[in-house]
Amino acid sequence: MALRLILAAAHGRVAVAGGGPYDYIVAGAGTAGLVVANRLSADPYTSVLVIEPGGDEHANPNVTSPLAFTRPLFAVWTRPMNGRAPSLTRIHKTTPQPHLANRSLEYHQGKAIGGTSTINGMTYLRGDAAEPDAWAALGNPGWDWKSMYPYYLRSEAFSPPTEAQTAAGASWIPRYHGNSGPLRTSYPYEMLNGTLFDRMRTTWEALGQGWNRDPNGGDVRGFAAWPMTVDRDADVREDAARAYFWDVAGRPNLDIVQGVVKRVVWEDDGCGTSQGQMDENGDATVVARGVEYETPDGNMVTVVAKKEVILSAGAIRTPLILEQSGVGNPERNVNVNQYSILSSFGIPTIINLTGVGENFQEQPNIVLVYNGTTPDDLDTGSIAPYATFLTAGDLFGEANLPALASRNLDSIPAWSTQIAAANGDRISAKALEHVLRVQHDLIFAKNATVTEIISFARPGQFGSAWWPLLPFSRGSVHLGRRSRDPVINPQYLLADFDKTIAVAAGRAAQKFWRTAPMSELVGANTVPGPEALPNYNATDAQWEAHLANTATPNHHGLGTAAMMSRDLGGVVDPELRVYGNKNVRVVDASVIPLQISGHLTVTLYALAERASEIIMSQGTTN
Ligand SMILES: Cc1cc2nc3c(=O)[nH]c(=O)nc-3n(C[C@H](O)[C@H](O)[C@H](O)COP(=O)(O)OP(=O)(O)OC[C@H]3O[C@@H](n4cnc5c(N)ncnc54)[C@H](O)[C@@H]3O)c2cc1C
Ligand SMILES: *[C@@H]1O[C@H](CO)[C@@H](O)[C@H](O)[C@H]1NC(C)=O
Ligand SMILES: *[C@@H]1O[C@H](CO)[C@@H](O)[C@H](O)[C@H]1NC(C)=O
Ligand SMILES: *[C@@H]1O[C@H](CO)[C@@H](O)[C@H](O)[C@H]1NC(C)=O
Ligand SMILES: *[C@@H]1O[C@H](CO)[C@@H](O)[C@H](O)[C@H]1NC(C)=O
Ligand SMILES: *[C@@H]1O[C@H](CO)[C@@H](O)[C@H](O)[C@H]1NC(C)=O
Ligand SMILES: *[C@@H]1O[C@H](CO)[C@@H](O)[C@H](O)[C@H]1NC(C)=O
Ligand SMILES: *[C@@H]1O[C@H](CO)[C@@H](O)[C@H](O)[C@H]1NC(C)=O
Repeated sequence: MALRLILAAAHGRVAVAGGGPYDYIVAGAGTAGLVVANRLSADPYTSVLVIEPGGDEHANPNVTSPLAFTRPLFAVWTRPMNGRAPSLTRIHKTTPQPHLANRSLEYHQGKAIGGTSTINGMTYLRGDAAEPDAWAALGNPGWDWKSMYPYYLRSEAFSPPTEAQTAAGASWIPRYHGNSGPLRTSYPYEMLNGTLFDRMRTTWEALGQGWNRDPNGGDVRGFAAWPMTVDRDADVREDAARAYFWDVAGRPNLDIVQGVVKRVVWEDDGCGTSQGQMDENGDATVVARGVEYETPDGNMVTVVAKKEVILSAGAIRTPLILEQSGVGNPERNVNVNQYSILSSFGIPTIINLTGVGENFQEQPNIVLVYNGTTPDDLDTGSIAPYATFLTAGDLFGEANLPALASRNLDSIPAWSTQIAAANGDRISAKALEHVLRVQHDLIFAKNATVTEIISFARPGQFGSAWWPLLPFSRGSVHLGRRSRDPVINPQYLLADFDKTIAVAAGRAAQKFWRTAPMSELVGANTVPGPEALPNYNATDAQWEAHLANTATPNHHGLGTAAMMSRDLGGVVDPELRVYGNKNVRVVDASVIPLQISGHLTVTLYALAERASEIIMSQGTTN
């Protein structure tokens, strides 16, 4: 393992020589960044440096145990967090959320070699095919489900379920899975193997929702047990580092250094570049020379990239690096209480890109908890991975859809104006209108699923956690005034229809626990309790209060450097290159332009596989 390189870097050539040079510099050893580092350094003549603030957590049991995520998460759901973060997690506070009773919420991000994949829930669910198709519809040729599909397979090595797992609900359709990629996926050893799956399946079927035998083929609708990013036979979490890094860390052309990337360093300080406008031939004029990063002992080091800089610091941190590099919105907007704007930091504008940090799309996660008689074989070492995905037709009735669709279409101009205003008009209402129409089409014409309802079980308790999958609401992430930490404003439930979906999905979840045969095991509701939310006839106001008082982040934030045209508030082109420059790309959740009816890592692995291929096929040289 190349951890020697961290020391070599701190005391040796990188720090002293001011860096490399390297062909490619990857900022962030996270979920997507490590795919790029692995694929680019497969060519022994290509040198790659990865810069990452987190450390080697490959032996940390909080990372390796497939149970390490669910235990603390369930604890968070039933009692307040003590506020102390383990070393490998960054816990940010969002701004007070106006539609969630002005609460500031804890938003987590991984800080480790492996990024957020070292702390996440390991759910492996791609989403509906219509979603990447909508990226293409936004003007990104080649980013549709069909084009993404080979990359999903390329990254994956799926272990077929055992007989006992199959009896307990594990199911798969072989052609949907890769078997020789770097990322091991499986139904974990700890999967609950009793009869609870059948009981849940029968109950959802009684409510009209069928069993989806493999939700990873582009249609997640229905009830399913989901596979996970777990190496079943070794019984360890399969994070990005285990899949893509540790095995290749010894490559002599791949270095990793501990540090925080502060900014991209531009040729000639970006002077004479007229703020990222095109030259007379329509070519970008700004060229990156490398990056500046801060070492753990506080030194600033500049390292040169001969070819490209790839930003993979995640949807929360990549926009901050761009803003600190002079890429963002140059103007101060006096109408909103936000201070995201380059001029207010005295940062000279290199590229005027008003979409940096905008388009942030997150999902509010809401829970119900019940006492109950759980199966004997369910203990704290069990994983019960059951989810139900529903369309708008499922929630509101097919017969009601045309009217609902048309009412929502009529609302889009008003929502766009409201969203633009709430975010300081940094993306115009006109641009938002265009994007929200694509999303409306996704929900009402393409029948994409609009909510995921997880049905969980732990000793003596059952519960649901659910969220609207495709929110119309948009928020932002920008540099903070003092600490240069992010100011995270997801604007949860800003658009009315997101609330409508969240309430309808909550009613579906509640009905599930009241329906036989599930109801036979279910006792009293404990969160939020029957007074706050009666079991049979809770009013809209009671449901909305439950959302407002209890929703937490779902940690699926994306879109802060969206792959869309500049006119729409996009930040990167279809080759993931930041507009107005020649050799800086973004490869992480920031570039995904619309939310996904799945969980993000699987799509990020595929996206980064494809991005690596694009980068290698181009070989930009200064
Ligand atoms: C609690 C939780 C549960 C989740 N559950 C699931 C799940 O079950 N399934 C699923 O698919 N997804 C899940 N997700 C979401 C998913 O894990 C993330 O969306 C995804 O890992 C993000 O990948 P990324 O490459 O964009 O960023 P990350 O993986 O976060 O990588 C970014 C890396 O950049 C580093 N970095 C930050 N700033 C800098 C800087 N200035 N310079 C250099 N490096 C920097 C960070 O330390 C980090 O290592 C969950 C997320 C959380 C937080
Ligand atoms: C694992 O997490 C627990 C709870 O947050 C913490 O007390 C412990 O120090 C962590 N262990 C390691 C090795 O990080
Ligand atoms: C949230 O804060 C705003 C601004 O201070 C205030 O106008 C509003 O009434 C508050 N909302 C709630 C639900 O407390
Ligand atoms: C249930 O799963 C565990 C762990 O995989 C296994 O040890 C046990 O034998 C299984 N029990 C049954 C009845 O299949
Ligand atoms: C930045 O770009 C926006 C949108 O294209 C434009 O309205 C604005 O005038 C530009 N600002 C500067 C300082 O060039
Ligand atoms: C739920 O179960 C716990 C543990 O058995 C018990 O203490 C509590 O009173 C129960 N709550 C309700 C509302 O029944
Ligand atoms: C969406 O559902 C409607 C109603 O069931 C159906 O008529 C239509 O063909 C479906 N569209 C797609 C793309 O599946
Ligand atoms: C709700 O249901 C309960 C029990 O079924 C009943 O007593 C109560 O009157 C109902 N309330 C309303 C507002 O319908």
